[in-house]
Amino acid sequence: MAVRDDVDAVILVGGRGTRLRPLTINTPKPMLPTANAPFLKHLLARIKAAGITHVVLGTSYKAEVFEDYFGDGSDMGLEIEYVVEEEALGTGGAIRNVWDKLRNDTVMVFNGDVLGDTDLNAILETHTSKEADLTMHLVRVGDPRAYGCVPTDVDGRVTAFLEKTEDPPTDQINAGCYVFRRELIKDIPQGRVVSVERETFPQFLESGRRVIGHVDVSYWRDMGRPDDFVHGSSDLVRGVARSPLLEGKTGEANVDETAGVAGGVLLLGGTSVGRGAEIGAGSRIDGSVIFPGATIEPGAVIRDSIIAAGATIGANARLSNAVIGEGAQIGARCELRDGMRVWPGVVIPDNGVRFSTDA
Ligand code: GTP
Repeated sequence: MAVRDDVDAVILVGGRGTRLRPLTINTPKPMLPTANAPFLKHLLARIKAAGITHVVLGTSYKAEVFEDYFGDGSDMGLEIEYVVEEEALGTGGAIRNVWDKLRNDTVMVFNGDVLGDTDLNAILETHTSKEADLTMHLVRVGDPRAYGCVPTDVDGRVTAFLEKTEDPPTDQINAGCYVFRRELIKDIPQGRVVSVERETFPQFLESGRRVIGHVDVSYWRDMGRPDDFVHGSSDLVRGVARSPLLEGKTGEANVDETAGVAGGVLLLGGTSVGRGAEIGAGSRIDGSVIFPGATIEPGAVIRDSIIAAGATIGANARLSNAVIGEGAQIGARCELRDGMRVWPGVVIPDNGVRFSTDA
C-alpha cells in the first residue's frame, strides 16, 4: 500500500463511555480489550494499512492512558500526536482543537468507537473525485430506525440530517468517519462544546458546502453498548469483522498465550481470553470477552458477557448478557443475566443471585 502522506488521520477518543459503565470507570472505551488488543489498536492498524501514518488523537477522559500505551506510535509504524481537552469539547470542538497539528488539506476523522472494515482509500477517492468539502461515510443498515439518517441525491450530495424516526426515508446512516477539507475545520467555533453531528454538519449544508456521502454496505458496528461490544469483539475474533492485527489468527476463540485453560473447557463463538486469565475445568464460554487476569472457576457457563480484569466467576455460575466490573467476585452457582451489571469490587456470595427454580 502506497504511503499517504497527503492525509492526516484524527481519532476522537475523549468520550466518557457512560453506556459501557462500569467497564469505562478506569479504562477509556477505545482502550478496552477486543480480541485481545485495545479496540483502538485495530483502528490504528486499519489506518496504517491504508497508508496513512500521521495520526492525531483527540483525548480528554483518561487522556494519559493512550500515550502510556501507544507512545509516539513508532512501534506500529505510525507517528501519533496527542491533543488533550481539559474539559471535553464534544465531537466538533475536539476536531477544532487539533487544528494546530494538521499538516494536510485532507483530514480523515474517525469516531474512536466504531468497528468497521470499509476501504478507507475508497472514501478518500470519493472525496477527491467529487471535489467535496466534506465526505461522510454512510453505511446502509437493515434497521435504520435506531439512528439518525442521512439521505443523498443522485450525485451523492447529502440533502439532510434527519433525527431518529419510526419511518426513516433512507437506510443510510452516519458511520462516524468523515473526510474534511482542512479549511472547514477552522470554521468550527473554538473553545466551546460543539457537536459535529448536530451543529457543524447541518451548518455546512445550510451554507451550501459540498457535503458528499460515500455509501456502502460494509461491516459496521458502534461499540458503545455492552451487547454491541461483545458482538463486535466476537466478530473480530471470528473474522466476520476484519482487522489487520488478526490476519491468519481468526477462529472460534482468541486465547492469550499466557492464559491458563484447564481440560474440558469449551471456548466458542468468538470468545477472547486475556493475558494471565485462568479458565477452570469443564467451563463453557460462548461469545464472551474475558479481560486479563480474570478467573473463571470450574463448571461456569458464560454467554455473551464481559468479565473485566481481575474479576472472579465462581464454580458452576451461569452468566448470560452480563457485565462484571474489575475485581468483582461472583460466588459459586450465581446466575446473572439480561444485562445485569456488577460494579468493580462487588462481592456476591455463593448462591447469591439465582433465577432458576431448580436446585
Ligand atoms: P457514551 O457516554 O456512552 O455516549 O460514550 P462516548 O462518551 O464515547 O460518546 P459517543 O459514543 O457519542 O462518542 C463517539 C466518539 O467520539 C467516541 O470515540 C468518543 O470517545 C468521542 N468523543 C465524544 N465526545 C468527545 C469529546 O468531547 N472530546 C473528544 N476528544 N472525543 C469525544
